[in-house]
Amino acid sequence: MTLFGVGLGPGEADLVTVRGKEVLENADVVYSPGRLSRSVALEHVDESKIGDLDFPMTKDEEKLRSAWKEAAAEIAPNAREGDVAFVTLGDPNVYSTFGHLRRTIDAFHPDVELEIVPGVSAVTAFATAMGVEIEAGAGLSLREAANGHSPTGPDRMILFKVTDAPATHEGLVEAGYEVTYGRRLFMEQGETLVTEDPAEIDERDYYTLAYAVKADLEVEQATAAFQQEGDGTEDASSEADSSSSGEPVADGGEVVVEEMAEGCAHGDCGGH
Ligand SMILES: C[S@@+](CC[C@H](N)C(=O)[O-])C[C@H]1O[C@@H](n2cnc3c(N)ncnc32)[C@H](O)[C@@H]1O
Repeated sequence: MTLFGVGLGPGEADLVTVRGKEVLENADVVYSPGRLSRSVALEHVDESKIGDLDFPMTKDEEKLRSAWKEAAAEIAPNAREGDVAFVTLGDPNVYSTFGHLRRTIDAFHPDVELEIVPGVSAVTAFATAMGVEIEAGAGLSLREAANGHSPTGPDRMILFKVTDAPATHEGLVEAGYEVTYGRRLFMEQGETLVTEDPAEIDERDYYTLAYAVKADLEVEQATAAFQQEGDGTEDASSEADSSSSGEPVADGGEVVVEEMAEGCAHGDCGGH
């Protein structure tokens, strides 16, 4: 039988893929690395199927290795006898705890069958949430901005782990970027926010990313001419839906107090 790494998407239950949902519904046990992924999984499976894993809040590599060895030792026998799922937010192969599990299973339980179900990653979901188009031919780099770090260089960057937005912002603006921040995009848990003002998100929330684009970047698109023509009469924009208007379409949710950053327990919220 099989161990499935299942990507849950950014957080809204109906952004789990059809395949992911099927795998969850058919799994004998569903393991989650944190409270948030667990709450999304619970929208698709009964609580009785949720398996227990214990992760220490540490960046100590020795302790992390032994936690993953224990987790793999718990999961492997169940994956030999039946189908089990290990869920992660977003995609299991993008900045994810699943990599630790996969490597540990490969090393100590190589007979376990492994399959991955991709999920909607924040790497792509941000574009819709912010009303941004990454047009064909454009480059986009994924970087990390934990602890106020401001990586620079590429024309367009998506920055994960923006834990000190004001500090990150300062460095990016100095290097000539325009920056938009997105917090808890497409998430049911907590308040969704899209803003260009780092002061609005100065309180740390692990589920914050930034899209940074060089202010002087010039993009030429054949159809851009439609938007410049417009005198309002039967222009192309009247047919366009709101997602192409350039306005953020982030939808909100109720504010939930304090969510332990998923991934922090396993060293995924650390430095760069
Ligand atoms: C460890 S990475 C996990 C990425 C995930 N595997 C994915 O594919 O989206 C966590 C970082 O992703 C970003 N992130 C993930 N989901 C997000 C969301 N729904 N809204 C905003 N940022 C998110 C945040 O920057 C967060 O610090």
